[in-house]
Amino acid sequence: MMLKIENVLTRAEVDQCRATIIDGPWVDGNETSGHQSALAKKNEQIAQGSDAANEANALVMDALGGTPEFVAAALPLKVYMPMFNRYAGGQTFGNHVDNAIRQVRGTDVRIRSDLSCTLFLTDPDEYDGGELIVEDLFGEHKVKLAAGDMVLYPASSLHRVTPVTRGNRISCVFWLQSMVRENAAREHLFRLDSSIQQLSAEKGGDDPLVVDLTNLYHNLLRRWADS
Ligand code: NI
Repeated sequence: MMLKIENVLTRAEVDQCRATIIDGPWVDGNETSGHQSALAKKNEQIAQGSDAANEANALVMDALGGTPEFVAAALPLKVYMPMFNRYAGGQTFGNHVDNAIRQVRGTDVRIRSDLSCTLFLTDPDEYDGGELIVEDLFGEHKVKLAAGDMVLYPASSLHRVTPVTRGNRISCVFWLQSMVRENAAREHLFRLDSSIQQLSAEKGGDDPLVVDLTNLYHNLLRRWADS
């Protein structure tokens, strides 16, 4: 499932995030990539562990926690520290797959990447090119969203970013390990949850059908989730 979530950041938060990182420190984007993706990746990113990275991370993590659609769709268990990257002057990221396992620097914590997430920090009219292209069995999906919007997609997908031929494309990318490993199971839960929310709005949260379906949701979550 690919899912677009709008307005994860407000316009003011986008501006604040951009102001935090605009002066860097920017470093070569290959600092964090795996072997195959290092061959394909041509961009810059904010140095991990810098004050700018930490401040912008905190802002994004707060916003994600306050986005119910993100929580319902991703069922996040562990989030790998967001990275802020910038493409300009023809920079690109060729077709690649994200590493399945990531170790959190300086710790023995490992995170399995179930979902890849891109939060856009520049608007589509600020740059040419720079589409995120995600491949699945239905073909290729082209994604270029407004600043503050994000896309989630299975980390198992091949994907790329087309060359940025004008302006700057700035975004925040991160991976997460979901409580529910299987994409299909996670999608079933998200759809069930969305239907329960809708039914609850129509009939009230104490309607017997809503209560029964909520029970079913939690029993499926209990069956499928690691915590
Ligand atoms: Ni990637």
